[in-house]
Amino acid sequence: MAKCVGILTSGGDSPGLNAAIRGVGKAALNSYGMQVIGFRDGFRGFMENRIMELDSNALSGILTVGGTILGTSRDKPHRMPVGGKLMDMTDVMVENYHQHNLDVLVCLGGGGTAKNAYRLLQKGLNVMTLPKTIDNDVIKTDYTFGFDTALSVATEAIDRLHSTAHSHHRIVVVEIMGNKVGWLALGAGIAGGADVILIPEVPYDVELVAKAIRGRSASGKRFSIVAVAEGAISKQEAASRRGAQERLEKAKNKKEIAKAEADMAQLELAHAGNTLRLAAQLEQLTGLESRVTILGYLQRGGTPSAADRLLATRLGTACADLIDKGVFGVMVAAKGDTTQPVPLEEVAGKLKFVPPDHAWVATARSVGTCLGD
Ligand code: F6P
Repeated sequence: MAKCVGILTSGGDSPGLNAAIRGVGKAALNSYGMQVIGFRDGFRGFMENRIMELDSNALSGILTVGGTILGTSRDKPHRMPVGGKLMDMTDVMVENYHQHNLDVLVCLGGGGTAKNAYRLLQKGLNVMTLPKTIDNDVIKTDYTFGFDTALSVATEAIDRLHSTAHSHHRIVVVEIMGNKVGWLALGAGIAGGADVILIPEVPYDVELVAKAIRGRSASGKRFSIVAVAEGAISKQEAASRRGAQERLEKAKNKKEIAKAEADMAQLELAHAGNTLRLAAQLEQLTGLESRVTILGYLQRGGTPSAADRLLATRLGTACADLIDKGVFGVMVAAKGDTTQPVPLEEVAGKLKFVPPDHAWVATARSVGTCLGD
């Protein structure tokens, strides 16, 4: 009996998602005669049973298309917004899985998606994931598809910002995506030749950043480019967050937990607008005009790079091979020129942070980049 494969895309969209859908689908159809069904808008469409037949026509012409033809959402199986409340809809998804006689559900997403897929695994479903995100923050895979495209978009933006910064003798602060992890800001900062790179993993001292910029100015450099991850934090902010986290861990009762969680939420809220505040601080501390560019969703949009198309297709076809072998409960990870199945429980809910002693950090320091510390 031919196997039936369900596919959904979950979490933030990313270049390469359609290449991955195509890779899984074409291999499943052409190599193994499987049937392939897409569920729309992530776990929400899986719960609502909204499907799209992924036959050869549907899979044709999507390799180069940005976003996801299935749509996506950040809805979680066990905390699904239904009628204004967050409901556990996992059992409905289990019913839908069996109603479609699925042999496996393939979830394209990041660490959060792996965590949600693992929950379905624990309910007895065959699930697999492919590592997708522009943040490149999924552990146990060399890279995630989406990262290479976003890296090129952010790098080209930094290239373009150099000429206007130079013309106006300005500091240009460019905010790059990555609200918890700094791979994209670090990689684009190095590739774009940013003079300062600030990432969440290396809390910064704004005085040290200003000193580096003043030093550049004194040596005749007419501008500075500051690449800052949206989640970059100052040393003071990091200390406040550590304090709130410690209070949360030591909380003895519901009241103390609620207070600590409120403190954490307040700190997260206070982080909004950090990039604008940083630019204003640097202008004040250096006497140089500063301007801000927030790249935002440009980094998630448009056609995937060749490298992302290649990576997504490799992972997708490897996924179909594993399905044929009956290997489930894994993330299909990129390992060098090949792929490797990694048990979902090793990936679920984890993030790959930039180690402060990582080679890329050393590279940035070696070319004289200020990392704010
Ligand atoms: O996880 C990818 C990502 O683009 C992050 O870099 C960014 O902080 C976040 O998604 C934005 O989330 P949303 O698309 O829900 O606004």
